[in-house]
Amino acid sequence: MILVTGASGFVGRNLVKKLVKKEKIRCLVRHTSNTRQLKGTELFYGNMLDKESLFKATKDVSMVIHLVAVIGSADYKLNFETHVTGAKNLIEACKKNRVKRVIVISTTSTLAKIRNNYGTTKAMADQLFAKSGLAITTIKPDFIYGKDGNGFIKLVDTIKKRPFMPSLGSGKYRKQPVHIDDVVAAIINAMNKKFIGKTYIVASEKPIEIDTMIKMIMKRLGIKKPIIHIPIKFLLAASYVMKMKKNPLLTKAVVLGLSQDCVYDVQPLIKELKVIPRSFEDGLKEVLN
Ligand SMILES: NC(=O)c1ccc[n+]([C@@H]2O[C@H](COP(=O)([O-])OP(=O)(O)OC[C@H]3O[C@@H](n4cnc5c(N)ncnc54)[C@H](OP(=O)(O)O)[C@@H]3O)[C@@H](O)[C@H]2O)c1
Repeated sequence: MILVTGASGFVGRNLVKKLVKKEKIRCLVRHTSNTRQLKGTELFYGNMLDKESLFKATKDVSMVIHLVAVIGSADYKLNFETHVTGAKNLIEACKKNRVKRVIVISTTSTLAKIRNNYGTTKAMADQLFAKSGLAITTIKPDFIYGKDGNGFIKLVDTIKKRPFMPSLGSGKYRKQPVHIDDVVAAIINAMNKKFIGKTYIVASEKPIEIDTMIKMIMKRLGIKKPIIHIPIKFLLAASYVMKMKKNPLLTKAVVLGLSQDCVYDVQPLIKELKVIPRSFEDGLKEVLN
């Protein structure tokens, strides 16, 4: 039995869809989680902050794939509790139930020069897992896109609906967006015990400037709109105002996360985990067809 935490999220539901064909899966979900896409799995209601629920969820489990996170929230307490306290609780539960193998889904935000609260607390959680004595493999994806990816849907909606497309600062910050299926493949391959103790960056091979990403999406959608560069300071102020909105497009975490040039070597992903990530161009063809 494999326990998947964060199974109802974007990565979780796509991973579970693949895994459930060959493994028995228990999904850690909350009473508020959307579980429609978790058919064929055992639903276990719990919470990363509820030690007892994690203790029960990890019983008779051979491996945990840990995906829980809060993405896009600038709230330090929420980030700390979910990522750091959650990691401590999960490690304790795994040790009590002798679950040795854990695949931790981290993020390239932990490697940024200026880290937001998400990157800082995810890095703290990585440290806890690394020192836990459990058999850990860590996966660090860059921005993940896919048909049902919340961040990607928001980006595409903004491009479709706005008369112009706002871009961050110079628009020259580079990213290596990765297709959801490549992330799922990396997680599944990482389950092999030969990757214990290893960390893999999961990203597309070629860094792309944000403006280029926007232009590529526009081209696929068959629309042409001006890109207006907005100073980072202004975006941070706007994110402060948007805090009042439910599900805001801009948060401080998003602005800080996107306004940095990030370039990664994905050769270990290709050579060791044997995942050849799609180019953003090829991935877009599938996602926006
Ligand atoms: N998406 C990206 O672009 C991206 C990039 C790099 C790394 N990652 C990493 O990939 C992993 C999965 O991300 P995702 O995009 O799938 O995120 P997501 O769609 O926001 O899903 C987050 C999941 O965490 C669950 N969750 C949050 N707080 C919880 C708590 N206290 N107890 C139990 N469950 C809780 C959510 O449950 P509910 O359904 O109940 O809300 C949901 O299932 C994360 O570790 C993230 O850091 C994602």
